[in-house]
Amino acid sequence: MTETDIKKGLAGVVVDVTSISKVNPETNSLLYRGYPVQDLAARCSFEEVAYLLWHGELPTEAELAAQNDAERAQRTLPDGVVDVITSLPTTCHPMDVCRTAVSVIGAHDPAAEDPSPEASLAKSLRLFAQLPAVVAFDQRRRRGQELVPPREDLGYAENFLYMTFGEVPEKEVVRAFEVSMVLYAEHSFNASTFTARVITSTLADLHSAVVGAIGALKGPLHGGANEAVMATFDEIGSADAAEAWLEDALAHKKKIMGFGHRVYKNGDSRVPTMKSVLDDLVAHYDRPDLGELYTTLEKAMGERKNIKPNLDYPAGPAYHLMGFDTPTFTPLFVASRVTGWTAHIMEQAASNALIRPLSEYVGPDQREVPARA
Ligand code: CMC
Repeated sequence: MTETDIKKGLAGVVVDVTSISKVNPETNSLLYRGYPVQDLAARCSFEEVAYLLWHGELPTEAELAAQNDAERAQRTLPDGVVDVITSLPTTCHPMDVCRTAVSVIGAHDPAAEDPSPEASLAKSLRLFAQLPAVVAFDQRRRRGQELVPPREDLGYAENFLYMTFGEVPEKEVVRAFEVSMVLYAEHSFNASTFTARVITSTLADLHSAVVGAIGALKGPLHGGANEAVMATFDEIGSADAAEAWLEDALAHKKKIMGFGHRVYKNGDSRVPTMKSVLDDLVAHYDRPDLGELYTTLEKAMGERKNIKPNLDYPAGPAYHLMGFDTPTFTPLFVASRVTGWTAHIMEQAASNALIRPLSEYVGPDQREVPARA
């Protein structure tokens, strides 16, 4: 093997089969279990999409009702998890809180070490049910606010927003949030999902795999980009400053957050759906200035680099308008992607092979250890 045979970053390397999702850059499409993601976002609740990712089919009414009952009954965080979150400094990043909380949730899970498909599904549902409370409580405590307990009479998205803001917002806002959850849920062998599969391949437990995935998602080249997009918007300030800002950033060889993708080269299939949701929010909150900044930077980036936005570009300002603090954006991605991660963890476990690639050694040739005094 020569260095030229090496696929740095595993770019273009197919490492396994999956039946969970299909990313097709040629047709600019993303399918979850065969269904176009934009159609799922338009017609399904996030709970239905979670069921689809885990089971391979959309639920019947009875199946959805059973899953909803189980999810709603498990939304309250164990006291030990609340205590650990409370003990963490508010100076740490919310992704650190998420990562730690999942680890502690695992320590409290009665089925933590049970690798059976039934136990894995139950653990996946518990994480799905409890992550909203983690994210919501962490944002609230940073604002000096008390924890808001979950409400079993609300759907996933409404309850998430209720626990974060203490009230259920207007239905347009709930819908926008739910669409973002559906779009973020799954994206084949991305860095965090692959991390989860690598950890699962060693026969480690499900919570360890999710903790590792959260670590991978935190970076700005992956999930951290939605937060970084808002930081960019804050730095630019207004549409009339966007072009000059971009010239300067590119001159300094900066990566522009929310643009580009390893797989899509002609635009991210999820962007049109999220952009239309952002347009609704811009109108709802009467923030045309944000819409103008979005469009101006997108156009300038297209003209200068011919690079298109990815999902994080519209998601960042959308979460800002919904009222989330910028550092909370990537934990929202975690709450959604935990569905895809756990589907992949179960798929990996069902036909496992230890993931253990090779490397080409380029260090010194064999040599003698010098005599030590
Ligand atoms: N800003 C400026 N230049 C860019 C960008 C960008 N966002 N993305 C790619 N390029 C340029 C890059 O500089 C390189 O140019 P050259 O060939 O002249 O050196 C060329 O395009 C190829 O870039 P690359 O980084 O080698 O491509 P990649 O496939 O390894 O990177 C990426 C994909 C997502 C890491 C990259 O586009 C990037 O860093 N984007 C910004 C971070 C971001 O938005 N991440 C979210 C990804 S999508 C959501 C998710 O999965 O979490």
